[in-house]
Amino acid sequence: MYIKKKVIDQVGVLTIDRQDALNAVNLDILKELDQAIKTCISDQNIGVIILTGAGDKAFIAGADIKVMKELDVKKAAKFAKLGQKVTMTIENSPKPVIAAINGFALGGGCEIAIACHVRYASDSAVFAQPEVKLGLIPGWGGTQRLPRIVGKGVATELVIGGHMINAKEALRIGLVNKVFSPDKLMDETILFCKLVLKNGPISLGESLRCINESVENSLIDGLSIELESFSNLFTNDETKEGLSAFVEKRHPRFRT
Ligand code: CAA
Repeated sequence: MYIKKKVIDQVGVLTIDRQDALNAVNLDILKELDQAIKTCISDQNIGVIILTGAGDKAFIAGADIKVMKELDVKKAAKFAKLGQKVTMTIENSPKPVIAAINGFALGGGCEIAIACHVRYASDSAVFAQPEVKLGLIPGWGGTQRLPRIVGKGVATELVIGGHMINAKEALRIGLVNKVFSPDKLMDETILFCKLVLKNGPISLGESLRCINESVENSLIDGLSIELESFSNLFTNDETKEGLSAFVEKRHPRFRT
């Protein structure tokens, strides 16, 4: 098993643990990760998911290059399809997935990070889409999600340069949300998760869904999706509780 799971106060922490290869991801890890995220999504005791890497060197150093060296066209398509499926499972999760990026986030590692809803990094983290150095292009969504996050110009520079950037630069270009010292990264990530857990699970899921829709649709279509979601929330006890709690000057009770 390459994915270690623990639950801390409704926060599901998934750790990719293959330290002898800097947590590089092979087929088995992709399958395990997909399943682990889905298990967290269906677990009533988990409200937020953290994804991180084991050890202090790497979040994920990319797709396993030794595996890719043996691929033909058909097997490469299967590998890329599975990687893309995992990124979609993460992005479409109705529970927020927060990346705690504790070191190298390279190639497929950066692509898994950018599928997460929020990215916190340690100041020792290093980012790159180095695929062109291997005669490749990003295959797990890097050419599609990176421009949506940092803009087309900056994404193009990263993808065709293949060079590494540090956490400070990643913060400057908006690739990560916040940067902490390595010893504070997990505590700060959990602190944010606890803030999120105070909020209603249905409104969290709908927020994530509508934000995802914003990049898929025109403004007009996106606004209409938001409108429908907003109004439908009024059928939920969660919304009634949130609004009543404010009026009654008390904290809302969203979770048991
Ligand atoms: N795949 C397979 N093994 C990897 C790996 C990867 N992506 N990254 C590191 N490893 C392995 C190394 O081969 C090495 O194993 P051995 O001891 O058995 O040789 C071990 O991890 C430690 O790595 P290094 O000795 O290289 O450690 P370092 O500190 O000197 O260098 C590094 C660290 C700069 C991250 C370097 O390992 C490196 O450049 N790794 C490759 C990063 C990369 O190119 N990732 C993108 C892959 S392509 C991709 O992900 C495609 C996609 O879009 C899906």
